[in-house]
Amino acid sequence: MMTKNAIFYFSGTGNTLWAANQLAERLQNCPVYSIEAPLDFTAIIDTLDQVVFAYPIYGSDLPLPMKQFLMRLPLGERTIKTYSIVTQWQFSGDGGVLIREFLPKRFALSGSAHIFMPNNISVAPLENTMTASPTISASTLRPVRTVGSVSEFAL
Ligand SMILES: Cc1cc2nc3c(=O)[nH]c(=O)nc-3n(C[C@H](O)[C@H](O)[C@H](O)COP(=O)(O)O)c2cc1C
Repeated sequence: MMTKNAIFYFSGTGNTLWAANQLAERLQNCPVYSIEAPLDFTAIIDTLDQVVFAYPIYGSDLPLPMKQFLMRLPLGERTIKTYSIVTQWQFSGDGGVLIREFLPKRFALSGSAHIFMPNNISVAPLENTMTASPTISASTLRPVRTVGSVSEFAL
């Protein structure tokens, strides 16, 4: 039987969504859900064998919406293999494993990838950004290093 996967992401400005879509393309049959979508996530997650949580690092930490989402995940006995994808500008520390603190026990964190992405911290006026064209077009990620179960990639 085919393993049922899904990716759940939070993305402030699109970097993490891009990374989530890259992974989904490679896995195939892997839906990508925004954690902000008005969906019954409990029903969805209860059917899955593997989940990926994808999020950017904000201040060496998880974004608040992702923390809240993780804390509301359905409890249960069945183990769900779990991975995290972290996008970062320069440094996320333990960004990939920070989710352990918020995950119910059944979500067994098995691996994590840190992906270096363009910086999205802006102090410039916002009026021109609405029409800016996407700056990311590369479709291959270059492995940088692996430490334990955490791998880093760059564009
Ligand atoms: C408020 C804020 C805090 C951030 N803090 C960090 C940080 O601590 N380390 C880092 O490497 N990048 C940091 N970044 C950069 C983002 O993690 C990075 O650009 C990420 O790819 C943005 O993803 P998104 O477009 O999906 O939100 C921060 C960005 C913002 C907006």
